[in-house]
Amino acid sequence: MAAGARNLTKTYGSGDAAVHALRGVDLDLPSGRFTAIMGPSGSGKSTLMHCLAGLDQASSGTVTVGGTDLAALDDDALTVFRREHVGFVFQAFNLLPMLTAWQNILLPLELGGRIDDATRERARAIADTLGVADRLGHRPAELSGGQQQRVAIARALVMQPDLLFADEPTGNLDSTTSAEVLDHLRRSARELGQTVVMVTHDRDAATYADHVVTMQDGRIV
Ligand SMILES: Nc1ncnc2c1ncn2[C@@H]1O[C@H](COP(=O)(O)OP(=O)(O)OP(=O)(O)O)[C@@H](O)[C@H]1O
Ligand SMILES: [Mg+2]
Repeated sequence: MAAGARNLTKTYGSGDAAVHALRGVDLDLPSGRFTAIMGPSGSGKSTLMHCLAGLDQASSGTVTVGGTDLAALDDDALTVFRREHVGFVFQAFNLLPMLTAWQNILLPLELGGRIDDATRERARAIADTLGVADRLGHRPAELSGGQQQRVAIARALVMQPDLLFADEPTGNLDSTTSAEVLDHLRRSARELGQTVVMVTHDRDAATYADHVVTMQDGRIV
């Protein structure tokens, strides 16, 4: 599913305290393309991904996903849209603390009414590939940062969403595990036609992408 932003701005706060996180971003994300977003801390990378995923509302400009202007959707429609089409790996993981790793991974399938033997099998295989199969009975607090990150990635991958966003997905991983994750993201785009967007500070990680954009001060440069 293709997505895009036109003249997108996002301002947090107002008056003297206003922070202009996005200052007019134009971006095209064609279906099946793997895009990496780079740029210094505070340049607006996470804000841009949150707006593209319908998690946050832009101040002005438009986000179009699969031909739909996200601003035209009410809250319920936006929730359904996210559940059906969007996977997100958050910079801070956002795992549910009371659920085990396995329950966290299965949660979007459950919410989407898509839990069955086939999807459970896929979840198991992804957990295996990402090296967390032996930690699935543990809660997030009992996992290392890298293990939590891999569980968060598995949770997003298992849905095979049309749009997959990953905010610094390899930030806490060793180079071998990073390579596994990046290869997975690349194959998600190539083989499943998923539109994949990843924020990274790592130049080597960015080489896995088809396209790299750089942000600075709320703009793509
Ligand atoms: N909820 C918020 N309220 C106020 N300001 C915010 C909020 N979220 C982000 N900002 C500000 O918006 C700007 C862009 O933040 P953003 O998180 O998008 O940066 P980033 O490029 O993802 O940085 P990093 O690489 O450190 O994750 C920053 O100046 C940040 O302080
Ligand atoms: Mg960020």
